[in-house]
Amino acid sequence: MRVSASALTFLLVCIFALSSVAQTLREAADRDGLLVSSAVRPSQLSEPAYASTLAREFNMVEAEDAMKWWVLRPDEATYDFRQGDELVRFAQIHDMKVRGHCLVWGRSNPEWLTQGKFTSRQLSRLLHEHINRVMGHYAGQLFAWDVVNEALDENGNVRSSIWYDQPGVGFSWHGTKYIEQVFRWAHQADPQALLFYNEAEGEGLNRKSDAIYAMVKNFRRRGVPIDGVGLQMHIPMLDADIPAIAANIARLTALGVQVHITELDVSLPVDSSGLVRADDLTRQADIYRGIVRACLNSAGCTAIQTWGFTDKYSWIGSHSHGVRGQALPFNRAYQPKAAYRAVLEELSAGRAIRH
Ligand code: XIL
Repeated sequence: MRVSASALTFLLVCIFALSSVAQTLREAADRDGLLVSSAVRPSQLSEPAYASTLAREFNMVEAEDAMKWWVLRPDEATYDFRQGDELVRFAQIHDMKVRGHCLVWGRSNPEWLTQGKFTSRQLSRLLHEHINRVMGHYAGQLFAWDVVNEALDENGNVRSSIWYDQPGVGFSWHGTKYIEQVFRWAHQADPQALLFYNEAEGEGLNRKSDAIYAMVKNFRRRGVPIDGVGLQMHIPMLDADIPAIAANIARLTALGVQVHITELDVSLPVDSSGLVRADDLTRQADIYRGIVRACLNSAGCTAIQTWGFTDKYSWIGSHSHGVRGQALPFNRAYQPKAAYRAVLEELSAGRAIRH
């Protein structure tokens, strides 16, 4: 039997195409060495559908709340690592990386801390000790940490917070100096961990993202140990400026730091029965696709994490008082949505393909 060269080529292309279709986000991401991740509440790991979907689709996890001060520090003398340890155990069993969130934030702090009337000296000691204890406990198990979360306001100024100026750890009115200090403490506490600055609403080009860029540039120039920027990427109102997001990722990675997309969700308007419009699901998928593509097109964008993965468990419902929802790639029954298929397609196409 004679087979023409073009028929043979066609056959080989078909075989290649079939073998290159990834079945899961994890499989597709692994091919590019990319991290694909979800925030997790450890209590949900006992639900079989939750646990099996998580382990099948993702190669990394992060604690949605379990490593925040209010969980880790029920009182001044106690460190409660149980929930965090449970997540780390799950990750080890399923060969997943773990990302830490978050050491320094003006929110999600326990009352004994916020109402404690501590002096700056005392707060400085408390925070330094917290960073040492928590990073020390997880050293070798967590490869990266959000060291500081949401420290800037929408104008790019340092936000008022317990750590900055209420009363702060000793650097009130010194701009980003307290941020610099805690990055130095974090580097001493675990020199192996990658250290991130994580921020909301600074994903595109605006005054806040300009301020993040300027801070990171300044830190890098002066040798302050910062390895990356986390762009949260909570997208409300189906409104995402993808070219601006791509440009911001490109300028940050050009500074030599990594970018992680850390809290991606795309919330939809829901009616009083909790339903969304069919074409909104398509628009949602397009936004997911655009953000994944923007990350893939910058070599320094190394992780894409959604804030949860199933609409069954998402902070959006309670946070928006039920006005928005269905923000994640899987529905409440763990079935993939159009958004999931868009992400899988882009990850399967990989870094090389440009649209
Ligand atoms: C949210 C969690 O999802 C909720 O469970 C919790 O009640 C409040 O915090 N930016 C962050 C995250 O950095 O830590 C927040 O997580 C969402 C906004």
